[in-house]
Amino acid sequence: MYNNKISIIGTGYVGLVGGVCLAEFGNNIINVDIDEDKIAMLNRGEIPIYEPGLKDVYERNLADGRIRFTTDIESAIKESEVVFISVGTPPAEDGSADLQFVLDVASSIGKYMDDYKVVVDKSTVPIGTGRKVAAVIEEELAKRGKEYEFDVVSNPEFLREGKAVQDFTHPDRVVIGTESEKARQILRDVYRALYINNTPFVFTNLETAEMIKYASNAFLATKISFINELSALCEAVNANVQTVAEAMGMDGRISSKFLHAGPGYGGSCFPKDTSAIARIAEGKGVELKVISAGIAANEAQKLRMVDKIEGRLGDLKGKKIGILGLSFKPETDDMRESPALTIIPELIKAGALISAYDPQGIEEAVWRLKDYEKDITYCNNEYEVMKKSDALVLITEWNQFRRLDLSKVKELLKQPIFFDLRNVYEKEELERYGLEYIGVGVPASRAGAVNKAFDEVAADKE
Ligand code: UDX
Repeated sequence: MYNNKISIIGTGYVGLVGGVCLAEFGNNIINVDIDEDKIAMLNRGEIPIYEPGLKDVYERNLADGRIRFTTDIESAIKESEVVFISVGTPPAEDGSADLQFVLDVASSIGKYMDDYKVVVDKSTVPIGTGRKVAAVIEEELAKRGKEYEFDVVSNPEFLREGKAVQDFTHPDRVVIGTESEKARQILRDVYRALYINNTPFVFTNLETAEMIKYASNAFLATKISFINELSALCEAVNANVQTVAEAMGMDGRISSKFLHAGPGYGGSCFPKDTSAIARIAEGKGVELKVISAGIAANEAQKLRMVDKIEGRLGDLKGKKIGILGLSFKPETDDMRESPALTIIPELIKAGALISAYDPQGIEEAVWRLKDYEKDITYCNNEYEVMKKSDALVLITEWNQFRRLDLSKVKELLKQPIFFDLRNVYEKEELERYGLEYIGVGVPASRAGAVNKAFDEVAADKE
């Protein structure tokens, strides 16, 4: 049994959700961050991020005294037997992960530890980082002339934004990478709420655990790119990608999850982790052709959405385009790598004027799209963006966009053209309201008009 105290260094998205949920499992948590404002806010009872369900668990555990927040890393390390590293690993210029923050934490651990510690890597880090962390700690201990025992464990997280609390408390699996039996026992204890609940645990070595995280994210990203590429072919041959994916997914070996065609994947994980694993492989002289193709297909898919719009509207100069949804997916204010960040600038470069609405993402969109601000009007609701627009483009499938008042949509738009980039609506439904439907990989109201390839195929048939 360990001393039941865990410090979590880095109170960002993963660190905060992890801390709050580990407290919920009955552990005593000290969440650490260098950002004083953030820590003060958390001590006041406010959460700095928007994540469904997080507030309840946070408030309960704060009230019960199982979690506290501090900037004092030294005391936190000294007090706890288990130290989680959950600082950011932002992509460097070349697409590799920047390890500076992780290694800084490792050196603090070496500086302040005065007893046995289990150091747990929760940040997504390149394969081999666990050993680097161990080496940095050794180095610091050597400087102090100390020989305390410690183990490094890789324990990757598989949280989805918007579902992070659910994912942390009901994971498909928990991966623990370490060769130390003592550390395994301690981690089993940390996660005892899951362990006794029949959640599968995978015990393996450091490198395999680090690899599992990248492999999982790269596979999911590639799976989306696979169906997105097929969406282009479906449009060209008059097939329906939704039905193709649905039927493919009925094969248990394939599964229908993460097989929805759309404007391309975004977010902080898939783009970052796919390019990081490609860089890791390159460094080892291994070419990851499938993953690299998946990355290229995602870029192409985002641009294909712009072609689709231009293909139908013609010259975009002076055309007004209404955009529904800016965040990379619903239920988050996160704009990182959102397809909207490619699509909107391309439309503006082609001469279009944009009016946009997102339930949570506008604040971030304002600074991320700063260079284009004079051509973007941010609206107060979904209907405002439609007023006198030459077309409506749904980029992110927020629930409130799923049940639009279609007669109002028809009335407000100047030209009744609806680009449904998430395949939320049925073509027949929109047509009943006099709207022209154009989805992704599904038959459009006027397929020939938006897809030259379709015309060619049709001509071939004759
Ligand atoms: C992802 C992984 O799911 C998670 O396990 C990992 O730990 C972090 O990265 P997240 O980035 O929060 O989580 O979002 P996710 O829901 O996985 O969606 C990623 C992107 O793929 C979004 O842009 C989404 O719109 C897109 N997507 C997802 C599709 O285009 N089609 C799909 O079928 C599924």
